[in-house]
Amino acid sequence: MCGIVGYVGFQDAAEFLIEGLTKLEYRGYDSAGVACYTDDRIEIRKKVGGIANLTAYLQERPVHGHIGIGHTRWATHGRPSDVNAHPHGDEHNHYVVVHNGIIENFMELKRDLQAKGHVFVSETDTEVIAHLCEELDTGDFLETVRKVLATVEGSYALAFMNRDFPDTLICTKKDNPLIIGLGEGENFIASDIPAIIARTRDTYILNDGEIAVVTAAAVRVIDREGRPVDKKVHHVDWSAAAAEKGGYEHFMLKEIYEQPKAIRDTMAMHIRRDTQEVYFDELGWRPEDLQGIRKILITACGTAYHAGLVAKYYIEQIARIPVEVDIASEYRYREPLTDAATFCIVISQSGETSDTLAALKEAKRLGARSLAITNTVGSSIAREADAVVYTMAGPEISVASTKAYTTQVIALLLLAVYMGRINGKLSHAEEEAIVRDLLAVPEKCHQILEDVDDLKTFAKNYGFAEDVFFIGRSIDYAVAMEGSLKLKEISYIHAEAYAGGELKHGTLALVVSGTPIIALVTQDAVKEKMYSNIQEVSAREAIVIGIGFEDDPELDHFVRHAIRIPRTHRFVAPILAVLPLQLLAYYAAITRGTDVDKPRNLAKSVTVE
Ligand code: AGP
Repeated sequence: MCGIVGYVGFQDAAEFLIEGLTKLEYRGYDSAGVACYTDDRIEIRKKVGGIANLTAYLQERPVHGHIGIGHTRWATHGRPSDVNAHPHGDEHNHYVVVHNGIIENFMELKRDLQAKGHVFVSETDTEVIAHLCEELDTGDFLETVRKVLATVEGSYALAFMNRDFPDTLICTKKDNPLIIGLGEGENFIASDIPAIIARTRDTYILNDGEIAVVTAAAVRVIDREGRPVDKKVHHVDWSAAAAEKGGYEHFMLKEIYEQPKAIRDTMAMHIRRDTQEVYFDELGWRPEDLQGIRKILITACGTAYHAGLVAKYYIEQIARIPVEVDIASEYRYREPLTDAATFCIVISQSGETSDTLAALKEAKRLGARSLAITNTVGSSIAREADAVVYTMAGPEISVASTKAYTTQVIALLLLAVYMGRINGKLSHAEEEAIVRDLLAVPEKCHQILEDVDDLKTFAKNYGFAEDVFFIGRSIDYAVAMEGSLKLKEISYIHAEAYAGGELKHGTLALVVSGTPIIALVTQDAVKEKMYSNIQEVSAREAIVIGIGFEDDPELDHFVRHAIRIPRTHRFVAPILAVLPLQLLAYYAAITRGTDVDKPRNLAKSVTVE
């Protein structure tokens, strides 16, 4: 996610802006910039890369003043570059803005502004806002901002400067965090508490739609109807370290709870708001683009590989195209039958995994067209692939991948729907059914994430088990593999995932009295078979924790403990079913006192083969 800071007061603005942005580095970014009002104009300084690059640039070209805004960018629209870095201004730097979020209707606004003569220099959605301010300028700073907000659609945290109002900042938010730090003769704006905690612990937490007019002496807040809001001062008593995690004990837990928003943002990029049609403008496929594909190769590592296993079911059952899924480190060495009729999809959170990058290059060498699914704009894999679909997971700090996985699965399901519609294999009714249940996912995630007491209890009771098995059939088997990896990599408990029907062919010998077994039961077509498999292990006195739909009347009969998720489409079930598995792993790790965010022997980005 991007980071925003702002300052107005009696001190040097640039000094605070750099200090604040440095405290937001943990959010992940690929460029940074500041803007300050000085000598009757707004000066912008911005650089791709780390804040050190920006600081060095400011040494060469310092900018001073007592009011300014700053930004660290995690690229979503437009690659990381100096020109795409924030802040963005209109042609005259009359209005200058920094933004966190997505302006969903930026293309149509940009075309309209260009037709009116506005000249754009960046690839970003944010620049549209600066030009919109100039276009809609009424001479009143606040009124102009309100007119702009009535025009844009999407999610945002925004901070504005206006050359004609050298003592005032305006900021607002919708679906992205923004706070005001309250000082003595100075006030601060920030995306997150760590940026300001060294200066003040008294804050206003802005709510969606609220607009703050910030000067050195006062902060005035109005709501979206323009009515004054009497904000309560929120005193922050967190430590600085706790503040980086948004109050969560670990980045992993923070990122688990970021999933509803990351999923919503990812879907917003590919489901039209009015028609609810699935689209991938970055691909622009036509039927003839799919006709030449004889098979799809999906290759990745770890959790990303597990997302690929889920996608196999999606693409084969929705678009009726054969799919093979291969571990990236294995693919290159099996003399793969890849050719020009193969379409290669690589999946990677970091976009830098060497095994995956090498597999991608090999598939391309053998003639395959390629597509990358990643949340890291401008990464090596993103640049190597012929096309890229970005998820909106944002940076993932914890080694254990959670929000990257669910947004990958969302993107892959949408891609399968897109393929199925283009090649005519998916009926409109089925597309509508899938999209309807997809749009309900963020709210259903909240329901699951708000009810974790049983999971904490299970983690306490079984957190010291020697062996744990995850079983599932069909698409649940792919989810079981992800659940098993999560548990292993952060709690160090030995866990294995098995196809429900496969246990009896050997591994059942390991099941003894008290062995915890997590059984996924979300696929109605194989539910009865799954219940038989559960009976097999229960007969050996295993302790079965079942994960199934809240309206499944049989679940309690077959399992020792039931974890229920809201009913949803069979293809959407993996996205909900994985949440309890992520939390189970997390609380098991807490029980065992392991290093949740940095588990032993592991790295977040594996750039060695
Ligand atoms: C998942 O929790 C692990 N951190 C690991 O398996 C990871 O998914 C794998 O290394 C692939 O990383 P990537 O998505 O960045 O390519």
